[in-house]
Amino acid sequence: MRHFLTTEDWSREDLQAMIDRARAFRESPEGDALRGKSVALMFFNPSLRTRSSFDIGVHQLGGHAIVLDAQGQTWPVEFEEGAVMDGGPEEHVKEAARVLSRYVDLIAIRCFPKFQDWSAERKDPLITAYARHATVPVINMETIVHPCQELAIMMALQDRIGDVRGKDFLLTWVPHPKPLNTAVANSAVLMASKMGMNVRLLVPDEVYRLDERYMGAAERFCADAGTSLTVTTDPTEAYAGAHAVYGKSWGALPFYGNWDAEAPYRAKGAGFMIDEAKMALTDGGVVSHCLPMRRNVKIADAVVDGPDFLGIEEAENRLHVQKAMMERLIKEADG
Ligand code: CP
Repeated sequence: MRHFLTTEDWSREDLQAMIDRARAFRESPEGDALRGKSVALMFFNPSLRTRSSFDIGVHQLGGHAIVLDAQGQTWPVEFEEGAVMDGGPEEHVKEAARVLSRYVDLIAIRCFPKFQDWSAERKDPLITAYARHATVPVINMETIVHPCQELAIMMALQDRIGDVRGKDFLLTWVPHPKPLNTAVANSAVLMASKMGMNVRLLVPDEVYRLDERYMGAAERFCADAGTSLTVTTDPTEAYAGAHAVYGKSWGALPFYGNWDAEAPYRAKGAGFMIDEAKMALTDGGVVSHCLPMRRNVKIADAVVDGPDFLGIEEAENRLHVQKAMMERLIKEADG
């Protein structure tokens, strides 16, 4: 049984097939892949797009979605193997995952890292525990990667610039008042490299390099495609000739949970907002962001309100690509 935890587990052809199927759903939204079936949507963190698009997508495929606020309205769950459960959690994931699997046909989970210990959180312990113990497919709605967003990004890029192979994709760190999860940044480099783009990473300092798991995977994908992965701290070099610019902010992993010490490095990126002057250096490049997004902090109004901003299309695509992915998982699970 296959899960959708990370696009690393899926081939380029499989991912492209989901994007192609998503385009068909955009033209003809109704389907019956989930008729008579139920999907649990577990949220440990807030959401606008993910919650709406999954709930509506399940409905459009004929199924029933149950949204579980897992941070306060379900029992706290223990994930440690062999734990003596004399603390807060009332039940173990071994029971929670197996019981939910008796009710529903898919389990989708959003659980951001807690910014405590990256050496532990980089293993994505909660969703991998659910996947280990569930008897139905598990879907990642954003943990330390955001694979649904990846499909939506690529669909938007292909719609606008056609064949993306050999084109230049810039992931730029952008300012934000507080350190954020690296999930979308990890995902952006995974998807762009896997689909054959040259990937540039623009960061205020080398301490903002992404986890080696994702840098390493992107390097392998680029080597396979004959493309390149480069890291720079120079905005002029990074934007020059880019075909696509993706903005995201994240906390520097060497200072994980120790953000006061990160502040001087964060200050180096004070001028990294995406604006018209930087976009003028690109090759007529498009620009996007996963949303939510702080205007005039991450991206200037003139860019967001311009014709090359793909953020709204990308958000719409979440609905289409998730339906394609759920249909695929259900078909595989049903044999
Ligand atoms: N991009 C995204 O996942 O949006 P939400 O956090 O609103 O779900």
